[in-house]
Amino acid sequence: MKTTINQVHKHVGEEVKIGGWLANKRSSGKIAFLQLRDGTGFIQGVVVKADVDESVFDLAKKQLTQESSLYVTGVVKEDERSPLGYEIQVTDLELIHEAIDYPITPKNHGTEFLMDHRHLWLRSKKQHAIMKIRNEIIRSTYEFYNNQGFVKVDPPILTGASAEGTTELFHTKYFDEDAYLSQSGQLYMEAAAMALGKVFSFGPTFRAEKSKTRRHLIEFWMIEPEMAFMDHEESLQLQEQYVSYVVQSVLENCKLELNTLERDTSKLEKIKAPFPRITYDEALAFLKEQGFDDVEWGDDFGAPHETAIAESYDKPVFITHYPTKLKAFYMQPDPDNPDVVLCADLIAPEGYGEIIGGSQRIDDLDLMAQRYEEHGLSGEAYEWYLELRKYGSVPHSGFGLGLERTVAWIAGIEHVRETIPFPRLLNRLYP
Ligand code: 4AD
Ligand code: MG
Repeated sequence: MKTTINQVHKHVGEEVKIGGWLANKRSSGKIAFLQLRDGTGFIQGVVVKADVDESVFDLAKKQLTQESSLYVTGVVKEDERSPLGYEIQVTDLELIHEAIDYPITPKNHGTEFLMDHRHLWLRSKKQHAIMKIRNEIIRSTYEFYNNQGFVKVDPPILTGASAEGTTELFHTKYFDEDAYLSQSGQLYMEAAAMALGKVFSFGPTFRAEKSKTRRHLIEFWMIEPEMAFMDHEESLQLQEQYVSYVVQSVLENCKLELNTLERDTSKLEKIKAPFPRITYDEALAFLKEQGFDDVEWGDDFGAPHETAIAESYDKPVFITHYPTKLKAFYMQPDPDNPDVVLCADLIAPEGYGEIIGGSQRIDDLDLMAQRYEEHGLSGEAYEWYLELRKYGSVPHSGFGLGLERTVAWIAGIEHVRETIPFPRLLNRLYP
């Protein structure tokens, strides 16, 4: 019967046929061990000389090269030593296509070499595990927001206005007009929230950032919920529930993958709402106490600061109430102190940095008009956004979660370049 590796547990003792590739092999005398993969998983196939035709054994032992494609027929056996719990006692092999000189051999390769071969590197066991975890984060995101009554809305990628500042925009021509690749769908999601109540988007965003760090991509995917009638505090509660839900879903549904990546899951098990909250002022005082003298009130926190703060907690931590002048034009000032805004960054544990940025949005027309003035945002491109404050404006909040940083944290991967299938980095547009 034709099946896949992730289904073999249903066929113990039966003969099955699987289409796959040879990931690796070793042999000794009268036995060959094939490391097979089929997209759904990895399994060992055992070929015993005495049990198969001579041509089959020869194929397994000699001709079969790494990444050749083949049909494997064999009997499913339970096997405690394998991470999967099963192996295949091979009865027949059928070569589909012979791979010659596959460049990624089982020895170690440098990062640049692997990045140049990203189209092939994706086949490796580690990259496979990361992509499966990324998929589970996406799947559980949809599940969470659907359960909570959110509507998925797709904002445009080609835009006429910037949401997060003008220095990092990708410019392009839109026939005779100027256009930019979206940095964030937020402004459009605010319009959508006024039409549909609770909405979320999930799509690619682009930032022409000249940063070459382990947390920065030029093209990354963002999940952006926006909620009418929710204030800052209600938004924080939603954020901590959402992040907890995603982490617990990965723990439950990606055991094999977390094991492959040797992720310390005891750290993830602690990720349950509520999350700690500290204000920007408290964070600054803490940093001073820790001996950081390179940051003053009004400065943004850098990676070392975020890491130092995160290290005091075993859960993600919200840093709230940043100085108004540090943050985007649309954030609602704190009614008790207009020098700070009703916003929060969520900082992941273990040095993974900011995974969410969010805020309550200005809903007052006059104040928004004043902010336009201060930020030099005039013209047609922003007119529609102002109109949202003109017709039935309501308090509303929203946030954006960066998918790749979240994958890096949950999967325990050092650099975001391995968390997206084909990373776009400062010096990389290939493959
Ligand atoms: O904090 P940011 O810039 O927030 C916004 O864009 C808001 N408009 C979102 C909203 O309220 N709807 O970006 C949100 C998140 C960050 O916390 C980070 O996780 C991720 O997006 N991010 C990046 N991830 C990878 N590479 C980059 N260059 C990133 N820039 C931001
Ligand atoms: Mg941010």
